[in-house]
Amino acid sequence: MESKKERQEKGVMGQNNLTYGEVLFETLAQCLHFIRNKYGAFTKDGGKFIDLGHGTGKGVLAACLMHRFDKCEGIELLDNLFEQSKLMKESFEEHMKDHVSPIYELKSEEAE
Ligand SMILES: C[S@@+](CC[C@H](N)C(=O)[O-])C[C@H]1O[C@@H](n2cnc3c(N)ncnc32)[C@H](O)[C@@H]1O
Repeated sequence: MESKKERQEKGVMGQNNLTYGEVLFETLAQCLHFIRNKYGAFTKDGGKFIDLGHGTGKGVLAACLMHRFDKCEGIELLDNLFEQSKLMKESFEEHMKDHVSPIYELKSEEAE
């Protein structure tokens, strides 16, 4: 909804790369599981997770919960989604920070 509103305001509705959709927690878990089994990753703490086009940031926060990355980072082009992601991050920090200890960052900029 926020994505559509901003894309309409900016006149970029036709740009397919800005079309919104959110990854499911389960799908991301399956991806990490596949990478672990096939490539032996995630057997110890560390690494960096980056979501280029993080939307509201749910994928970044989900990644923080699935593995103790050194850093989880998201980059989002659309301002409305970035603003929502900051609220999500605040809520996450308030409720979850004692349970997981990732260092993560959300940025509002265009991925190169
Ligand atoms: C399909 S959504 C995925 C959202 C999130 N990664 C998820 O899986 O839940 C793609 C996102 O990428 C953003 N995006 C597209 N091109 C981008 C760019 N060049 N730089 C930063 N963000 C971009 C869009 O605004 C949109 O929010």
